[in-house]
Parts: sequence; C-alpha cells; structure tokens
Amino acid sequence: MKVSIIGAGYVGMVTGVGLASKGYNIICVERLQNKINRIKQGKSGLYEKNLDELLSKFVDNKFEITSDIDYAVKNSDITIVCVGTYSKEDGSIDLSQIEDVARNLGIALKSKSSYHTVVIKSTVVPTTTRNIVIPILERNSGKKSGYDFGVSVNPEFLREGHAIEDFVNPDRIVIGELDNQNNTALEDLYQPFNSKIIKTSLETAEMIKYASNTFLGLLISYSNELADICESVGVDISSVFDGLYHDRRISPKIGNEKVFPEILSYLSPGPGFGGSCLPKDISALVKFAEALGHDPKMMKAIIEINNNRPMRIVDLLESELKELKDRTITILGSAFKPDTDDIRASPSIDIIKILISKGSKIKLYDPVAMENTKQLLNDSIIYSESLEDSLKGSDACILVTAWDEFKSITPDMMKNLMKTPLILDSRRFLNTKEFEGKVKFIGVRLGK
Ligand code: UGA
Repeated sequence: MKVSIIGAGYVGMVTGVGLASKGYNIICVERLQNKINRIKQGKSGLYEKNLDELLSKFVDNKFEITSDIDYAVKNSDITIVCVGTYSKEDGSIDLSQIEDVARNLGIALKSKSSYHTVVIKSTVVPTTTRNIVIPILERNSGKKSGYDFGVSVNPEFLREGHAIEDFVNPDRIVIGELDNQNNTALEDLYQPFNSKIIKTSLETAEMIKYASNTFLGLLISYSNELADICESVGVDISSVFDGLYHDRRISPKIGNEKVFPEILSYLSPGPGFGGSCLPKDISALVKFAEALGHDPKMMKAIIEINNNRPMRIVDLLESELKELKDRTITILGSAFKPDTDDIRASPSIDIIKILISKGSKIKLYDPVAMENTKQLLNDSIIYSESLEDSLKGSDACILVTAWDEFKSITPDMMKNLMKTPLILDSRRFLNTKEFEGKVKFIGVRLGK
C-alpha cells in the first residue's frame, strides 16, 4: 500500500516517518517550499527524539516530499490529512486549512480512476468530517463518498517528546468510518502495529480525541484546585494523593505488586498545562458544546483554573518577596514541558509576562527552547547561557519546566551565585529535604 500524507508539520512528519519505519512508501505533501528544501536534507525542523535520524534514513527512498497534491493522490492508495487545526479568537476551531485541503483533495480525486481512501488525522470537532469535509470532497470530485472513495477518521494520541515511540507502539488505534463503507484500507495499514483497533463511527472517533485531551486537562485542573485548598489548611497534597492512590480501584494489585497507572502523573499541581493541544482542544470543545446549546461548566472550569495558575505562582513569590519591582528573577524553563522546545501556551511565558508587568527583571534559562523564546519575547528579558549564569545575582528563582538538568541545583550553588538564595519550585520537582533549612524553598503544594 502506498501512502500520501498532507502536511509536514508535527503530526505529518511523525506519521510519515513512523509508517516508513514499518516498510511503507510515503509521499508527503507540503505547501511551504523552504520546509520542503529542509526536509530533503533530512531536517524536520522539529525538536523530537529520533525524528531526524529516521527522516535522514528514509528521505529520498521511502519518504518523498513534494508540493504536488495531485501527484501524491495519483501515486498512493490512501491519503492521511495531518494539517493543523487552530483556534479562532473566541477559542472555537478554525477549520480553514482542513477545508482547503479537502478542496484540493476533491479536485485530485476527480481524475483518479482507482478507489482511494481519505483519512482525517487532524483534530476536528465531532461532525466536521461528515458535515464539512465530505461535502467539499464530493462537490470537488463529482464522486460519492463510501462508493467511489472512502473516508475515515483516525485521531492521533502522540505526546510531544515521545511522538515516535507513541506512533510505533500505540495503545489503541481508533478508526472512525462511514456506515456504508466496506473498506479495510486503514485496518490493513495498521496491521504491522499489532495494536488494539477500535472501530467506530466518524463522530465517535472525533469525540474520542477530545475526550482524551479533556480528561488530561481535567486531572491537572482538579489537582491544582485541590492543592490550593490543601495549602490554606497546611496540608501537603502529596500526602493526600498518597492516601488516594492506594485505593485498589486506582492501583490494583497485580501479582504481589500494587500498580500505579501512568495517568496519575497528570495529578500534579503546578503552573498549569500548556502546549499546542490541551488548551486549544478544550476551548474548541467548549465552543462546540455551546453552539449545540449546552453549558459545559466543567470544561470551562478546567480552562479557568488553568488560566489562573501563572498568576498564582507569581502571587506565591510576591508574598515572599513583598515587592517584585526592580527584583531580578531567574526563570528556569520556558518550554511547556521537558523534552520539547515548544513554548506554545507555555505557563512559563505567562509567568514571565506577569513578572515583567510588575517591574521585575527576568533572566531565563532553558536547555532547548531559548531560540523559540527569543523569537517571542525579543529583548524584553535576559537570556542566560547556562543554569549557573541564570542564577547569578538573582533575588529569586522559579523552576517552571521539569527539565532533568535542573536537578543539579544545590543549596550551595544558590548561596554562591544568587543575591538571595530563594527558590520557588512550581512543580515540586526538586527534593525538598535537600533545600529546607539551607535556603528559602517554596514548593507549590507544600501546605505552608
Ligand atoms: C497531548 C496528549 O498527551 C496526547 O495524547 C495528544 O495526542 C496530544 O496532546 C495532541 O492532542 O496532539 P502533548 O501536548 O504533547 O500531548 O502534552 P502532554 O505530554 O500530555 O502534556 C500536556 C500537559 O500536561 C503539559 O502542560 C504537561 O506539563 C502536563 N503533564 C504532562 C503533566 O502534568 N504530567 C505528565 O505526566 C505529563
């Protein structure tokens, strides 16, 4: 089976390279010529473990890149749409890229004689594929979906920083299909992955993606709200969670061992969630639900609690320093999480902006996201060369991103380099005991 992919962004590149690693020949379509030129040299332009190594291996043999969508459709059996879906100003989903692609795919399908399958991998709100994509495809091709060509929805569950691993070893593969479609192309494509395949309607598949990301956001906002209450009564939420997690419904015993599911790592109070997916998808679902006449109170609360987190972190620091004006504050980490250079919707950026508005001088250090941050914040802050450099002469330091490198901070390092050795560990990432009594240590959820 030959596969074409539309969009050489994050999802498209990982999908293309991941499928090439399973033996498929890929034609990837990208409209930006500079991206095409870069990809031809084996450079995805993305910070993602193993991606460029695999791309270099497959480019020009199993992985072809072109701007010609017609060529890609004619020379493949299945097209996977991986273009981005963005947010409009009001938080609702912006489908303009998907609509453009559907138009161009429809035109390409018009002159294709053999059966072709179109797969929507981009995250789209339920009913988008049936009510928007399919009519555009049919109008532009003059053909009938389900008979002349197939349409499926196949959401992705890739985490930035672990995307190749997630693609190659999926927990589940969700395939949403038209009722009248007797088409096994996508199931066949995923045979080598040896994973559970869940077959559903188009809308169910679309909804599964939103249910997944909303669930992650829910856990984070729940833990943040609970942590605030705990703090007010002098309770460390880590101990509360310890008591909660031992419920056998959460951590079943397998053999003689209690198993604590990985999902519990999202029950982690801190500066709030960020990235290109969770904030955007939860907002899109809220707007979608409202348009249907619902009042999605819980989804709105997830966002509201999350939006307040950066201010909450700044408040914690302000209550300690009393005055933030003219203070030099070190920010450790601008990426929205470790193992990525992505600063989109990063709580760190919000914390920096609030501190600047209060008159603080910011020194930032991030192991990989410095370039992206410079493009966004220009010369409004100081960019430090190293962790040590960032601590020099500071009145306080806030750890925002849980990069492993930050584990090397010690109380002695702080005393030697900082004006005032004060650290606010917004993720409780460091070992509290190593700092307490030696330097001023404020840890979110310490209950103090
Ligand atoms: C998220 C989902 O995890 C993926 O399954 C999904 O495919 C992707 O969105 C998407 O829609 O494309 P990603 O944005 O890479 O992936 O981020 P996560 O690793 O899930 O992190 C999201 C937020 O949760 C971050 O702010 C991070 O700091 C926080 N987080 C992450 C935790 O609090 N605990 C963790 O263990 C991991």
